[in-house]
Amino acid sequence: MKLKAINTSFEKIKEDVIVAGIYEGQKTLEGAAADIDRATSGLISAARPDITGRLNQTCMLYVSHGLTAKRVLVIGLGKKKDLTLDTVRGIAAKAACNARDAGLASAALPLQLIPGTDLKPEQKAAALCEGSLLGLYTFKQYKTVPDNGDGDTFKRITICTDQERSTAVTAAIRDAETLSEGVHLARDLVNHPGNAATPTYLADTARLMAKKYGLTCSIFDEKKMRRLGMGALLAVAQGSHEPARFIVIEHATPQTAKMAPVVLVGKAITFDSGGISIKPANNMEEMKTDMSGGAAVLGAMQVCAKLKLPLRVVGLIPATENLPGGSALKPGDVITSMAGKTIEIITTDAEGRLILADALHYARRYKPQAVIDLATLTGACVIALGNDVSAVMGTSEALIERLRQAAEQTGEKVWPLPMYAEYDDQIKSPIADMKNVGGRGGGSITAGCFLKKFTEGIPWAHLDIAGTAWTQQPKPYAPKGATGVGVRLLVSVLRNWKRLKP
Ligand code: BES
Ligand code: MN
Ligand code: ZN
Repeated sequence: MKLKAINTSFEKIKEDVIVAGIYEGQKTLEGAAADIDRATSGLISAARPDITGRLNQTCMLYVSHGLTAKRVLVIGLGKKKDLTLDTVRGIAAKAACNARDAGLASAALPLQLIPGTDLKPEQKAAALCEGSLLGLYTFKQYKTVPDNGDGDTFKRITICTDQERSTAVTAAIRDAETLSEGVHLARDLVNHPGNAATPTYLADTARLMAKKYGLTCSIFDEKKMRRLGMGALLAVAQGSHEPARFIVIEHATPQTAKMAPVVLVGKAITFDSGGISIKPANNMEEMKTDMSGGAAVLGAMQVCAKLKLPLRVVGLIPATENLPGGSALKPGDVITSMAGKTIEIITTDAEGRLILADALHYARRYKPQAVIDLATLTGACVIALGNDVSAVMGTSEALIERLRQAAEQTGEKVWPLPMYAEYDDQIKSPIADMKNVGGRGGGSITAGCFLKKFTEGIPWAHLDIAGTAWTQQPKPYAPKGATGVGVRLLVSVLRNWKRLKP
């Protein structure tokens, strides 16, 4: 997809369609819609009875005179007071997909498609680009025959701006492109089936990315994990023939190479069958998505590198399958984590916290400024918050607050869960230092409490993305399947990074 900014008048725009917006409940036309209406002696006015302006309502109009473009796509913006950056992303996605599905090759999205708001031109440009790129995403690598009408003719989006702002707007467009590429990478990794996106495949992807974008990367095999004492990660891996990998990928600039890093940790269970505590067959195929945390970290690392963020960022991704092979971990087993803490296994399906325990402990050697982990950790999180909101918890209120602020900007909603000491009682074991599950209540929180034991003294936040990493229904700018949640959120936090106050 080619994206560019131009500043020509509407009459001269050559794209196949120009998009114009109309607010719900507003009688007079504004912005692009008003200008286009004037140039075409009332094209949009004539269609007004059919257009309510309801959010994402679309109406394709055909131009007989006054414009070079042959079509105008009118899109509903919803009520003006409800407009946010996130609705703008959705509007752009809807418009771009509409143009694609109509078999067109190009579309013009004027900044004035969203008239009369206090959004800055570069904010609008970024949201329009992000929305359309993310909305247009498809994953067709396993189709040998294209679906009916599934053409690939749509090639170009042009953002129309006014003269004096075009440098900021151009920069915003390039950034949006970089971010979307990171999200697309994460989505691709998650959408790939478990037989393709193995731990080895994730490691190879990390290595290639490092080479391409100037990151440093090292991959630990099981031998190395054993030497490091990563007993919890290896315990999960032992039920599978597919070898586990521990991925370390690092971004820094010459100026930041020596500073204390921010460490990102991502759960990467490339398939979670539950192990010996096997899951019910229904929807088990979705457990190929259990590496979404790791995918988000890889996506974010790529963006950090491409944006050359003046920061040191380390990504740690413990990657393995969770299968019930003959040598698999069993309920009742006691294992020793890298931290030296012993864990009684109650269910082998609470495996994410095990591999994260070793990764979080490994993070300590960096003396990090902060650690943020992302994991499709608990079904309980989906029960608590549903499919549009991730849970956030941790030991640093300031870090949690930053994630919440970033979420406001990126639209990747997060909501805090409490970590009161009472919850710790649920994971006490009679024979080991802890057990790997609590009782029925507060399942996401007790999982968080388990992780907390491996982060002592380090500002840490945990995002449970079990409900948000995958969608059964299309979202405004995410088609069915992997959402790539976390990539934009992490990058937003890192872009605005300042040292946390002790
Ligand atoms: N990967 C799952 C959590 C999950 C559930 C992710 C739904 C995405 C959608 C995790 O490993 C798991 O199995 N958790 C168990 C923990 C329980 C056994 C304490 C769960 O949530 O059922
Ligand atoms: Mn599990
Ligand atoms: Zn899992």
